[in-house]
Amino acid sequence: MERGCPGAWARAGRWERLRVKRIEGWFATRVYHARIGRGWNALNRELLVECRQVAEVDDAGRAWSRGHYPGGYTSYGSLDKVHRLSSTFMELQRLLDRHVRAYSRALEWDLGSRSLSMTDCWINIMPAGVAHGLHLHPNAVVSGTYYVRTPRGCPGLKFEDPRMSRFMASPPRRADASPASRPHVTYPAKAGQVTLFESWLRHEVAPNPVRSERISISFNYDWA
Ligand code: NI
Repeated sequence: MERGCPGAWARAGRWERLRVKRIEGWFATRVYHARIGRGWNALNRELLVECRQVAEVDDAGRAWSRGHYPGGYTSYGSLDKVHRLSSTFMELQRLLDRHVRAYSRALEWDLGSRSLSMTDCWINIMPAGVAHGLHLHPNAVVSGTYYVRTPRGCPGLKFEDPRMSRFMASPPRRADASPASRPHVTYPAKAGQVTLFESWLRHEVAPNPVRSERISISFNYDWA
């Protein structure tokens, strides 16, 4: 039969439709979550003391927090390089470096002769009622949070589907939709654990409903 004959084309088309019946996921958004390592308990005891010491002496940070983090304390606007402050924070950086390398390998990035290194690292102290609105981390490649103190019932880290702004007429998801189909996912905050994500991924922390401080250390990595 001659190529291009309508009958052959239709038959081939039907055959294609029957055989190629699958749906695949593409353009994955990967979030990394792990325990930082053995000995996290001892590390957190020291970090807890130092986080509170920094908050106590950081007048500029407390003033900045009044405007940007009402009710809470963050060193983001004043001391955003706490990884250089003490051997405890340096040890945290050393441990985080390993996780960021593993994450970067999983993302299959080609960094050429460059490498990922920590550029910013700051403390967040979140008492009852304090929230952190939706945001992303500009000028960074990998961002993340390490948890120092997480009272039972404190909020996790909530990520938003990065395609959200393009959904336009997209229907809502069913109430029983699988986690992968939902527009948000929340990673629980657990002391000793680290969550990493690509810096462009928007996230937020809901108001802390418990009468106890949630303390975390956030950070950025860039490639240079
Ligand atoms: Ni953030």
